Amino acid sequence: MEVDRLERRFGDFVAVDRISFGFRAGDIFGFVGPNGAGKTTTMRILATLDAPTTGDARVNGVSVVDYPDEIRSSIGFMPDHLSVYTNLYVEEYLDFFARTYGLSGRRRREAVQSVMDFTELHSLRRKMCDTLSKGMRQRLGLARTLIHDPKVLILDEPASGLDPRARIEFRALLEELSRRGKGILISSHILTELSEICNVVAIIERGKLLTCGAIEEIRKNLRRHSVIRIGFLDRIEEAHKKVMLYPGVQAVRVAGKELEVEFVGDEAARAALLKNLVQGGLPVVQFAGHEQNLEDIFMEVTKGQVQ
Ligand SMILES: Nc1ncnc2c1ncn2[C@@H]1O[C@H](COP(=O)(O)OP(=O)(O)OP(=O)(O)O)[C@@H](O)[C@H]1O
Ligand SMILES: [Mg+2]
Repeated sequence: MEVDRLERRFGDFVAVDRISFGFRAGDIFGFVGPNGAGKTTTMRILATLDAPTTGDARVNGVSVVDYPDEIRSSIGFMPDHLSVYTNLYVEEYLDFFARTYGLSGRRRREAVQSVMDFTELHSLRRKMCDTLSKGMRQRLGLARTLIHDPKVLILDEPASGLDPRARIEFRALLEELSRRGKGILISSHILTELSEICNVVAIIERGKLLTCGAIEEIRKNLRRHSVIRIGFLDRIEEAHKKVMLYPGVQAVRVAGKELEVEFVGDEAARAALLKNLVQGGLPVVQFAGHEQNLEDIFMEVTKGQVQ
């Protein structure tokens, strides 16, 4: 799926500000952002439930704006809040959705069985939908999303409210779907969860895409602004003076026998700094850049510097 300068305004308010990104079959693409960032608005447009003000998105070249009917057959959307159907059994609920996708007869029965197998809902088939727990309901939501075997899955905060076990099970289902070649777009606030499951991630804030790419790539770019802790055996004062004068060093704090160095430079520049210190005869015992997880990246990128 390719998202191309997608924009959605509500009056003067810009909820989604010309964002572009893409993901392919087998990708699990994480869509991360604080409340009100524009995730749901974007996903609803991709699922053809809303139209963009400008811009477009395509699945295998087919536009969501121009061919919504065609797109609906290749996309499965799981909304953040699943509507509850009070008087339907689990199996009836899935059968109902299979019908809405035009499946009939044996194909419909097979589709319902197949998604119940996949999400292990068989034992619950005779349970009323409104009596399901949050975790079961989430699995039912995924089953419903898969009923027409779509190529692309758009899941709006599917892991929210799940306990750790349900979350791990849900993740295993997504990984299996990725192996089966589905392209998956998943939004969440649970950033560390996404870093484990997604291979690509985009961070959105106030409608703008702040960063997008493989988690490793984002990490590498952000490392240009890093904090390095350098430990010395002794001669800390001498080291302090030397480091302060080194190009790219923004600030230095002394903490015991360690220097905490704010440094702008990529990995090669950091290697050069270490080499410089060692060649200068200083007894370096430790040289550590702070490793960032997705949570750190998110906090760093969404500092509110960007409008
Ligand atoms: N129909 C609408 N009319 C007016 N404003 C809207 C409408 N739908 C969404 N918005 C606004 O657009 C912005 C983005 O909302 P959206 O629901 O896409 O955010 P989100 O990233 O999904 O947030 P959350 O994490 O809370 O789910 C919000 O400021 C919201 O108030
Ligand atoms: Mg939302």
